[in-house]
Amino acid sequence: MKRAAAAVLLAMLLPGVALAQPVRIGVIAPFSGAFADYGQQFDVGIKAFQKIHGDTVAGRKVEVVLRDTGGPSPEIAKRLAQELAVRGNVDILAGFGLTPEALAVADVATQAKKPMVIFNAATSIITTRSPYIVRTSMTLPQVSAPLGTWAARNGIKRVVTLVADYGPGSDAEAAFRKTFTAGGGAVVESLRTPLQNPDFGPFVQRVKDAKPDAVFIFVPSGEQSIAVMKAYRERGLAQVGIKAIGTGDVTDDHVLDALGEAALGMITTGHYSAAHDSPENKAFLQAVAEVAPRSGRPNFMAVGAYDGMAAIYELIRRSPPGPIDADAAMAILKTFKATSPRGPIAIDPDTRDIVQDIYVRRVEKRGSDLWNVEFDRIERVKDPGKER
Ligand code: PHB
Repeated sequence: MKRAAAAVLLAMLLPGVALAQPVRIGVIAPFSGAFADYGQQFDVGIKAFQKIHGDTVAGRKVEVVLRDTGGPSPEIAKRLAQELAVRGNVDILAGFGLTPEALAVADVATQAKKPMVIFNAATSIITTRSPYIVRTSMTLPQVSAPLGTWAARNGIKRVVTLVADYGPGSDAEAAFRKTFTAGGGAVVESLRTPLQNPDFGPFVQRVKDAKPDAVFIFVPSGEQSIAVMKAYRERGLAQVGIKAIGTGDVTDDHVLDALGEAALGMITTGHYSAAHDSPENKAFLQAVAEVAPRSGRPNFMAVGAYDGMAAIYELIRRSPPGPIDADAAMAILKTFKATSPRGPIAIDPDTRDIVQDIYVRRVEKRGSDLWNVEFDRIERVKDPGKER
């Protein structure tokens, strides 16, 4: 209100001068603690977007404020969202790396009437928790279902599933199981691991003892993927012929090189690979190298933030000057389409989730580095999680 009053006053004092109000985006994510990478990847994606597209759209300055949950911490995420929405004057809430934090903020978005743009958190149900949520990342069912189909068609008959024991893990497990068993495969055991699991050794040993053809893995990207692949290597699963397959989270570009040779040949399904061959991805990687030269290779979370910013810029471009009206904003966001660094994307107006191509990738060595090399693509995949 105060900003609006000041703008009116200035307009009276300075007739003829265009006074477009800035748009403020409050980005909530872990920027410290075990999941600090998530916030940092968002920051890299936002900066890369603004490097290419500028920090002004339709004459309005776009201001980004970052808030650290240090999470996973739903309570802190909720408090930060309340502060930003009420006193912090933000027009849009954004970020959200972890499902529990996104779920905790959904009610704040509804009550404060703020669009909430999710850059990562990927449990299917999240977008149903507020009409003001839109998601520019993925859902776990969206990436896991195609892998079940692929595995059944490619000689894998018996699988043990190993997933983190929270929303995204149960989504991944259910979606994989559905398509894999429909294709004639059998899930012989389903293991769940704590969200922050220090040692995967005992779980991976149980996989080994079950003697499946493959282990299907979802763990949140970063430290957890490094830890699970370490146990896979140490327990010698590859040597006894048990393949590792999983969602792109496990071979996340930002940590892929740290997984080492154990990841070589691993098949994953995902929505973004830094190896994706397109002019948009080249421009994105170039911008990241310029804005964050020491941050290493960006991953799917940086792209989720980049595309989230693209959606927000489109919203600003098509909005009248003045405060952002949440209902009008959602009507615009529901029609968002773009060619992302990952490929073509669009928001599904029915679910406010993203429709995108899902790629089947193999970890290969190119020079001295590991890459997720895309070799197959399922076009325009919607979130199948809403169909269960
Ligand atoms: C989530 O908590 O929703 C989440 C976190 C990390 C991932 C995927 C999903 O890699």
